[in-house]
Amino acid sequence: MPSSSTAPDIRADFRSDTLTRATPAMREAMASAEVGDDVYDEDPTVNALQERLAAMAGKEAGLFFSSGTQSNLAGVLSHCGRGDEFLIGRTSHVLLNEAGGAAALGSAIPWPIEVDETNHFSADDVRAAVKEPDQHHPVTTLLSLENTVNGHVQSVDHVGSLAGAAREHGLAVHLDGARLFNAAVALGVGIEAWTAHTDTVSLCLSKGLGAPIGSVLVGDRASIGRAHRLRKMLGGGMRQVGHLAAAGLHALDHHVVRLAEDHARAGRIAAGLSGIDGLDVVHATNMLWITPQTEAHGALVEHLEADGILATFWAPTMRFVTHLDIDDTQADLLVDSFTRFFSGD
Ligand SMILES: Cc1ncc(COP(=O)(O)O)c(C=O)c1O
Repeated sequence: MPSSSTAPDIRADFRSDTLTRATPAMREAMASAEVGDDVYDEDPTVNALQERLAAMAGKEAGLFFSSGTQSNLAGVLSHCGRGDEFLIGRTSHVLLNEAGGAAALGSAIPWPIEVDETNHFSADDVRAAVKEPDQHHPVTTLLSLENTVNGHVQSVDHVGSLAGAAREHGLAVHLDGARLFNAAVALGVGIEAWTAHTDTVSLCLSKGLGAPIGSVLVGDRASIGRAHRLRKMLGGGMRQVGHLAAAGLHALDHHVVRLAEDHARAGRIAAGLSGIDGLDVVHATNMLWITPQTEAHGALVEHLEADGILATFWAPTMRFVTHLDIDDTQADLLVDSFTRFFSGD
């Protein structure tokens, strides 16, 4: 992904909800945080954040990480030893976008499960993927889920059915909840509706919640204990990071409920584009997947960029993400830019 730009001609940056910059109030909370050495477990702000998210998820413990990648890696490896296998959706971030860390660093083997167009697979797919105990097979020990996946909410019942199938075979369940709060706000339920079905959950503060950094892995005390050692091994033990945890606490206080605004704004864009022929628009929470006819893709990218609009342009599709730093004017700019392109103005 290209690096963020502050060039004046960028008028709306829809590439990702990771691009947000801390608000003045968040910066104030960070600056005034009480801190201590977190490797000694003595940072009161980190401890408060960990305890708060663990309580929200109905779990015994939480552990602060610098990134979702590191939190997922420690979560997965807290359940998988060398040569163990974990089942995972083929479009999952852990599988595709985390540098193969579980295999490279933990010798855990991912087994991708095929997904449908909304990134779902079924409980029967899980049952079929678990390996029979046999000297030839790796030992399947974990099901790794994600929610939302590419913006798509996996319902509570669906995650419950997948986790149920995993339990039938004695598997642990990890959830990459980088955007679990988006799912929770979209369905009007608390995150514990999903976390009740899982052993460990990685919750990101630096996506839609708008913190500059940070994820918290929550789970039972034994899993988090193993993850704590892994975090140290990965060089992820940090010192006076209460300043960063304070951003996370501020985000939980002020930026959860407002995720509904991001979802509504993405819906506003989808509605604005609905009349354009030859444009396939899929709206899911704070993401829009827009696919023009193949021959229009290159010219459309040039047109949007000339209008100061950034998105992730993965031909044949394009991803637009709404977030804390996108307002209605920018949403309308996007609709206007598309409309002008397709009307030939
Ligand atoms: C679904 C999902 N999981 C995990 C991550 C990893 O988070 P980080 O970039 O903090 O490592 C991302 C990052 O965008 C993500 O989209």
